[in-house]
Amino acid sequence: MRPQPDFIHEFVPGSSQRTLLLLHGTGGNERDLLPLGRQLDPNASLLSLRGKVLENGRPRFFRRLAEGVFDIEDLKKRTHELADFLVSAKQHYRINMKQIVAVGYSNGANIAASMLLLRPEILAAAILFRAMIPLTPETSPDLSAVRVWIGAGTMDPIIPPAQTKQLADLLRGAGADVTIRFFESGHDLTSNDVDLAREWLTGLQY
Ligand code: MLT
Repeated sequence: MRPQPDFIHEFVPGSSQRTLLLLHGTGGNERDLLPLGRQLDPNASLLSLRGKVLENGRPRFFRRLAEGVFDIEDLKKRTHELADFLVSAKQHYRINMKQIVAVGYSNGANIAASMLLLRPEILAAAILFRAMIPLTPETSPDLSAVRVWIGAGTMDPIIPPAQTKQLADLLRGAGADVTIRFFESGHDLTSNDVDLAREWLTGLQY
């Protein structure tokens, strides 16, 4: 039986205990980030999902009302659904939950950040490329065992650098160990992002 609740996904077994949870940006799918996952860690298992919400036919992980304006109720519901999927995928694929690292880009980074805030027990670490503050939780989660790497673009037209710093502050306020890197780029991912994220991941201790 497949994991319940289910998502369209790809699972690529690896040779180490680590699993990278790959979450694409708006308009992506479950195959998009597989090469990035392999670049970041040649040995990890890869669990790559497709978002269930369609915006003009383009998959996303939660609804938005406008660019950067989120449907918070939908975001909360989809965040819990994703976390529940991971709990069930853990049994199905024998994933070591103590070594699950989310890797999200844009919309995928935003739902990963939301999961850190609403379901802090799920992720050991997260790499957030071009993330925003997805929501403000009613109670501060305990993220004291969680490590987060954030990659931002100084010229990102969607996310002002001040908002990236606020996201880092929010996560640090909850106890997370946060590394933040700014690149001279816009919303697109750069090879510098990938190089520095890989370096960070290689040295990651749980
Ligand atoms: C979002 O909707 O998550 C952000 O606006 C980023 C995007 O997907 O464009």
